[in-house]
Amino acid sequence: MAPEKEVAPKEDGQEEEQVVNPWEVSAGKGGIDYDKLVDQFGCRRIDAALVDRVARITAAPPHRFLRRGLFFAHRDLSELLLDLYERGEKLYLYTGRGPSSEALHFGHLIPFMFTKYLQDVFKVPLVIQLTDDEKFLWKNLTVQECKRLARENAKDIIACGFDIQRTFIFTDFGFVGGKFYENMIQIARCVTYNKAVGIFGFSPEDHIGKVSFPPVQAAPSFPSSFPHLFGDNDQLRCLIPCAIDQDPYFRMTRDVAPRLGYQKPSLIESRFFPALQACGENTKMSASDPNSAIYVTDSPKEIKNKINRYAFSGGQDSVELHRKLGANLDVDVPINYLNFFLEDDDELERIKMEYKEGRMLTGEVKQRLVTVLSELVARHQRARAQVTEEIVDAFMAVRPLPNMFD
Ligand code: TYM
Ligand code: TRP
Repeated sequence: MAPEKEVAPKEDGQEEEQVVNPWEVSAGKGGIDYDKLVDQFGCRRIDAALVDRVARITAAPPHRFLRRGLFFAHRDLSELLLDLYERGEKLYLYTGRGPSSEALHFGHLIPFMFTKYLQDVFKVPLVIQLTDDEKFLWKNLTVQECKRLARENAKDIIACGFDIQRTFIFTDFGFVGGKFYENMIQIARCVTYNKAVGIFGFSPEDHIGKVSFPPVQAAPSFPSSFPHLFGDNDQLRCLIPCAIDQDPYFRMTRDVAPRLGYQKPSLIESRFFPALQACGENTKMSASDPNSAIYVTDSPKEIKNKINRYAFSGGQDSVELHRKLGANLDVDVPINYLNFFLEDDDELERIKMEYKEGRMLTGEVKQRLVTVLSELVARHQRARAQVTEEIVDAFMAVRPLPNMFD
């Protein structure tokens, strides 16, 4: 299948504005302009030198998400965090998930797989926030349902392989209070309503629950929110891996940090894993349309069907034409997915080359992708089946982690 017809390019100045925030990701034709986003948000690009530096400092090969530019932007990663780490200063990792659906899709797995790599190579503690309150505020769900989804999602997160000696998982409904709540309220006092509207785009019709939420996601960036882990060390540095849609929360956090006498958290941010249909548009895979996403609960047969039926192809309409012209890799979803999940760099290059030159057909590329994703899902499902209620309780127990830096 090829793009059906040419749409006349819009006049300059009339281009559809791209919107990227925690609630909405949309771009005009041609997809998300990540360069523009970096400029607009004021973060920095990750270049080859920085990837090399991470590899050197951690004495480990960089994760494929890093060496392929999928984690592509950062705040204060080089100047501050790595410099300090090299001099022996410690840090902790913070990431999270808003439990809005029963099963995670592949897009959700990306920050967690990457965080697992960071935890392994830096050997540092990690806190994972499950924002059950956020989903209550934004979705039409009951409190009970949000809490249940958080627990189910925790199992998928644990299945990514986090080290229980170094990982604390918490839900907002379960944990917020004490020092965490003190930090929330201190953060809230530093942000005017106007500022919040500027960052998050709230409208006058939004209920005040939404307006009051951002400090909840900001608070885990400060170590003093976790006295059972970090005691009175309120200067420990924090590194947050996430997709770039979460940036607004942490722009706000970094803005208020100095006023509270805290360190600004550093960030390492990824592109979006695209929906099956829309690599050209570069939207993010979303949980709301089941045919746009591949879930970690899908069977090999479902994966095969979804990819064969829905994955947008950059190949030509007929075999003859394809042999002659080859594929357009930029809009090809299977290639995009392999870029995320096929580990072998040489094989990936070979497939891209053969496909681009028309020697390989879409069907063959899709077949390889089906194998890669099916293996990954099978491994994930085996790991998740091992996660008992007791293990979830153990990860969520409010406890010290005595060897978290060893
Ligand atoms: P949520 O549940 O929407 O998403 C969880 C994490 O997955 C990332 N993500 C994606 N990454 C790549 N491709 C995609 N298609 C895709 N879709 C989602 C998100 O950026 C996020 O990193 N408010 C947050 C929960 C949260 C959080 C945090 C996230 C609380 N504290 C700290 C990151 C860091 C949320 O609803 O995420
Ligand atoms: N917008 C995404 C969805 O609902 C996920 C998301 C990220 C979200 N952060 C959020 C939703 C905060 C509500 C609130 O599919």
